[in-house]
Amino acid sequence: MKMWAGRFKKELDSSVNDFNSSLSFDKRLYREDITGSIAHATMLGKCGIISPEDSEKIVAGLKGILSDLENGKLAFSDDAEDIHMFVEQVLTERIGDAGKRLHTARSRNDQVAVDFKLYLKKECEEVSLLVKGLLGSILRLAKDNVGTVMPGYTHLQRAQPVTFAHYVLAYAEMFKRDVSRLSDTAYRLDVMPLGSGALSSTTYPIDREITRDILGFREITLNSIDGVSDRDYALELLFDLSVIMMHLSRFSEEIILWCSSEFGFIELDDAYSTGSSIMPQKKNPDIPELVRGKCGRVYGDLHTLLTVMKGLPLAYNKDMQEDKEAVFDALDNTKICLSIFSSMLDTLTVKKEELRRAGNKGFINATDAADYLVKKGMPFRDAYKIIGGLVAYCIENKKTLDTLSLEEYKTFSGLFDEGIYKSIDLVNCVNERKAAGGPSEESVKRQIEALERLLAE
Ligand code: ARG
Repeated sequence: MKMWAGRFKKELDSSVNDFNSSLSFDKRLYREDITGSIAHATMLGKCGIISPEDSEKIVAGLKGILSDLENGKLAFSDDAEDIHMFVEQVLTERIGDAGKRLHTARSRNDQVAVDFKLYLKKECEEVSLLVKGLLGSILRLAKDNVGTVMPGYTHLQRAQPVTFAHYVLAYAEMFKRDVSRLSDTAYRLDVMPLGSGALSSTTYPIDREITRDILGFREITLNSIDGVSDRDYALELLFDLSVIMMHLSRFSEEIILWCSSEFGFIELDDAYSTGSSIMPQKKNPDIPELVRGKCGRVYGDLHTLLTVMKGLPLAYNKDMQEDKEAVFDALDNTKICLSIFSSMLDTLTVKKEELRRAGNKGFINATDAADYLVKKGMPFRDAYKIIGGLVAYCIENKKTLDTLSLEEYKTFSGLFDEGIYKSIDLVNCVNERKAAGGPSEESVKRQIEALERLLAE
């Protein structure tokens, strides 16, 4: 028998019951549901809306349900419509009439909103910790590779010299922004909807400050209709997770390229790679590929909820029950990706010599050669043209800028002298890029220190 059965002449069709029920997925809100109910019952008692004895009985009953669920003494039953109905049903079975007073001055609409917010507040914290864990892995890689010169790319063509440390620290910047985005989301989320009732609050003399204080929210929602129909916070979190996954998928793509024979910049640990069922030589980067793939799935979750919310009239509509699976799926997948990606970074080998060798090809010091002439007084456009000619000469004669003789240089410009060789030395090229944010050792050390400070907080 449903709690709302009073108005109905027939039992719910069993297929409708299954279709309608959210218990199979919203049971993960049981802690938050019980916490929210304890706060509500305490407030009802303090405000004289129910007796102090009933309030105490309810709180004790709810605590019992929580511990029984935690230690497996109580199982979720299939016939409850959702976690809210389930908890209230068990409570009433256990403590009788007092249990029936819990839902005074409350609706499942403000109840589910407060449960979801409590849950997501914690999840923001957890995801943020995992992103920080990943930042720790990037930090270690960076510290080991401050002097590892490699080509930086534009259009996936060798462009200018950087170091492996500078390269991976670019990802650190992205993940730092992710941490900050999660904290912004957590801030806006920290507003308590409990007390909004079904949509128009309540006629009982409730005190929302009491529940706000018990539940640890920053403030209370100002409009009861918005309080029960807002899901911006879930969308914001889904966006944050989508951006995290986008960053992970870009990093994954690099890892996949880097461990190919064509690049050969890194080697994944055997424990973090897989073989082929037919090709005995294969060592496949399944982890970054799967992470790259799961990014699409998390985007899908964001799209799901954006589309569910589109065009919904105020206030609560059952469509909104679709919010939870999307958010849970995105959270589960992002969290596993973050943690496995960190371990993969911790165990991979950076092939420093290969990175350096790749730096020697592709004329990534051509800009530096032009800058050499500019520093001798030549306008940049003229210098650019001369070095373009030099590069063409090298390609024709199978040479590189550092294997040209000074005589060859001099046929292109009288300004060249012995100094050109230092100017195009890759380590020098990197370290001369001292501008703030550049790849020089000094600048990279500043990036490392900033990251260490953030992780120490
Ligand atoms: N299971 C519902 C959900 O997740 C709880 C709110 C139900 N409210 C209602 N009036 N049917 O959205």
